[in-house]
Amino acid sequence: MKAKLGIFISGRGSNMLAILEACRSGALADCAVVEFVFSNKCEAAGLRKAEALGVSTFCIDNEGLKRKSHEKKLLEVLERKDFDLIILAGYMRVISADFVRLFPKKIINIHPADTKVHQGLGAYDWAWKERLIETKLTVHFVEEGLDTGEIIHQEIVNLQGADSLEEVERRGLAVEHVFYSEAIKKVINGKEFKALSGK
Ligand code: GRF
Repeated sequence: MKAKLGIFISGRGSNMLAILEACRSGALADCAVVEFVFSNKCEAAGLRKAEALGVSTFCIDNEGLKRKSHEKKLLEVLERKDFDLIILAGYMRVISADFVRLFPKKIINIHPADTKVHQGLGAYDWAWKERLIETKLTVHFVEEGLDTGEIIHQEIVNLQGADSLEEVERRGLAVEHVFYSEAIKKVINGKEFKALSGK
């Protein structure tokens, strides 16, 4: 049986596309399927891309909603969905501790820096301003702190010779697109996941 993924996005969704491709014919082809894509921004370009590929999507815009009421609406929909893991792929909204507690070891995030060194927004901007010669991307379980959960996998991006923020991002995203799926595979194949899902 394949693991069912629900992907959360807020914007262009390039990681989402890479995961969809990995499920179709890449690292996740034998072990995962994308059940739905959700966005907290109804105008997110990634939603249109997912729809064009025939993926089930929904959005609940958080504009004008407090975190609690937004998450309540989201949970009402999630209750009717069948999924094993929530994959945050450029989901730009902080998830509350109450929400996180409902899904222990079931929410995964990718952060474009070493979470022990840098948390929050602007990780590529930070790497560029600091003129880092390498940065370490992190896939981690989402726990109650911001970008502080248990690390699943880290991957180094070589930034030597990168001469603009765009180049830093281009190199970083190229690595993200490959290793996020590999890290998800690691979770699905892990003993803990099998015990949780009874697979
Ligand atoms: C990625 O750099 C991801 O690591 C970060 O937000 C960005 C999202 O990009 N959390 P995309 O929407 O997947 O293209």
